Amino acid sequence: MSPFTLRWGIISTGNIANTFCKDLLVDPSTRKADDVFHKITAIGSRSVNSAQSFLNNLNSSQDHFRWGVSNGALDGCSAYGNYDQVYNDPNVDVVYIAAPHTLHHKNCKDALKAGKNVLCEKPFTLDAEEAEELIGLAREKGLFMMEAVWTRFQPITYAIQEIIASGRLGKLKRITADNSLDFKLDDRVESHRMLDPALGGGALLDLGPYPLVWALLILHHHPNNVDRSSPKILNSYQTIYGRTGVDSASRMLLEWDGVGQADLRCDLTCHGYMDGVVIVTCEEGDLVVVAPPSKPQTFHIIPHGPDPSRQGKVIEKETHHYPLSPGHGMAYEADEVARCIQANKKESDRMPLEESLMVMRILDEVRRNGGTKTKDLRGTAGQ
Ligand SMILES: NC(=O)c1ccc[n+]([C@@H]2O[C@H](COP(=O)([O-])OP(=O)(O)OC[C@H]3O[C@@H](n4cnc5c(N)ncnc54)[C@H](OP(=O)(O)O)[C@@H]3O)[C@@H](O)[C@H]2O)c1
Repeated sequence: MSPFTLRWGIISTGNIANTFCKDLLVDPSTRKADDVFHKITAIGSRSVNSAQSFLNNLNSSQDHFRWGVSNGALDGCSAYGNYDQVYNDPNVDVVYIAAPHTLHHKNCKDALKAGKNVLCEKPFTLDAEEAEELIGLAREKGLFMMEAVWTRFQPITYAIQEIIASGRLGKLKRITADNSLDFKLDDRVESHRMLDPALGGGALLDLGPYPLVWALLILHHHPNNVDRSSPKILNSYQTIYGRTGVDSASRMLLEWDGVGQADLRCDLTCHGYMDGVVIVTCEEGDLVVVAPPSKPQTFHIIPHGPDPSRQGKVIEKETHHYPLSPGHGMAYEADEVARCIQANKKESDRMPLEESLMVMRILDEVRRNGGTKTKDLRGTAGQ
């Protein structure tokens, strides 16, 4: 059977849009996804020159990314000097939104109103009101929409969830998860999207979704969270970066009743402990994930021992590798979008819209309890 072709329109020509598009050009058979073919049919930018040079750059891709160019993935692709032409292009099935956080809502809304399915970068929106409005609109229009939390679709996350759910490590106690990097804040211009409060800058909204995704995968989806209850925020703290007033670091302590606590952090001033960016502590041992938390390929199981009296099942340290297919690891989420749209699904079971909304409510509470300049920033819901 020939693969299902999904035609992508791309919104913006920044860093992650480039990474995502390159991954769409990788041969799907390298990740055993022969059922899908990704074609990029439109690129939208605020400047037509930027759209055209983005397309030229994709056309000159080499190595693993050459496959798509040679197999027609960019044939007939339009380069537009605005976003509306992408939404109105009949050759586009789904729009990928990769503008700064504060523009996700407007861009998603415009795409949905024009009848397009949507994949939107994290954080899904600026606040929960925006997320709620988009979810309502997507449902009203009968369109597919998903937040681009690529980590959820990588092979390692399924394997880790399976081990935890199996009970092999004993009762789950707690998790810690960290997504931090030394972003050299002092060397950046104040208008950089990571520093500018008006663009939703700071660690929480940019890095925070990753510790949160691990908390959701391990605790929210734990078999003991039978009715998928939302967590309580026990505590949170934001460190303020004086120059622009955004958070240079944020901490959150969440609790899923009857399941466990998640101690989460993100920091723009230093790297975390790279050999243990996620630590799932269970009665018999720890499951320790090696960096980066957005796309890890290795985890260890480390027994709590030695205790000769214990009758445990976890005896020796084990190392598990789940290599990603060639590219950056973003194609797995694109395959999910293609399969959902082919099956006429309106959302992904693996990345449900309710969980995007839950994450936005958590981020809202942490932001509003902090003292940053984004504390009172409101989104554009209703506009
Ligand atoms: N999934 C991931 O791992 C990942 C990684 C990085 C970023 N992200 C998310 O993707 C989004 C974009 O991040 P990025 O690092 O790609 O950002 P970026 O490099 O700064 O690119 C953002 C693009 O948005 C467009 N844009 C529209 N209005 C803008 C404005 N007022 N100011 C600045 N740019 C504007 C620009 O493209 P045009 O000029 O072409 O319109 C710009 O190139 C963020 O929400 C971020 O959280 C996700």
